[in-house]
Amino acid sequence: AWSRLFGGPRPAELHPFRELAGPRHHAPATPGDLFLHIKAARTDLCFALAAELVRRLRGTITVRDETQAFSYFDSRNVLGFVDGTENPVGQAAADAALVGDEDPGFRGGSYALVQKYLHDVDAWEALAVEAQEKVIGRTKLTNLELDAPGSHKDVNTVLGPDGSEQKILRSAMPFGRPGHGEFGTYFVAYARTPEIPETMLRKMFLGGPGSGPDPLLDYSRAVTGSVFFVPPAGFLEALPEV
Ligand code: HEM
Repeated sequence: AWSRLFGGPRPAELHPFRELAGPRHHAPATPGDLFLHIKAARTDLCFALAAELVRRLRGTITVRDETQAFSYFDSRNVLGFVDGTENPVGQAAADAALVGDEDPGFRGGSYALVQKYLHDVDAWEALAVEAQEKVIGRTKLTNLELDAPGSHKDVNTVLGPDGSEQKILRSAMPFGRPGHGEFGTYFVAYARTPEIPETMLRKMFLGGPGSGPDPLLDYSRAVTGSVFFVPPAGFLEALPEV
């Protein structure tokens, strides 16, 4: 879609989401050309912007998914755990999320790998809190790190060639409709290269030597999967001619 929409060169690492089919878990690839992540402290502002964007794009787009998420207690997900603690901040977040000199035409942009997850909260809540903590790798009430081999946290600790931890900037947004039995997490990984969240996903869904698949997937099912490129602000201000 990039060439059709913008012409010109494309971000070096932009490619469709790679479906993962393991013996127990499946990460589907689902289509999508345009992804809008609208975020504000006030829901009415998000709603108004979404309504305006859809009004202007009417007739040119088919909406495949629309998810309204919310912040839940003290940054918790619908499984009750604090989410986002180990996210990088400040310069470390920029280093993890933003394309640098490796692709000069797209410096300052970011790759967004997105997946919508639905959780089996009945099965999750049937677990003792200690068992849930072993799945996540952190304590529930106090959000302290645990030494929990094989946990979600452990599976997603990925080391680079120099032995340092490979970071992504996660935005995991709770959503749901209790009346419909729907409890979910809309997961977005912003990364300088899609390779890092893709490595994490392979470990989560397929498992790797000595780790995974991720026990969180026994309670969580991915229903969408796409990769997008988030252009730097300057790119949007000076869109190439097509
Ligand atoms: C089912 C949806 C998911 C839920 C509910 C979830 C939840 C959590 C929670 C509660 C933590 C611990 C607190 C924190 O540091 O944020 C965590 C950590 C983490 N998750 Fe997830 N996660 C989900 C999906 C994913 C996916 C798909 C990826 C990778 C592509 C991922 C990567 C990570 C990473 C890198 C960490 C930090 C590990 C560390 O350095 O301690 N998560 N997640």
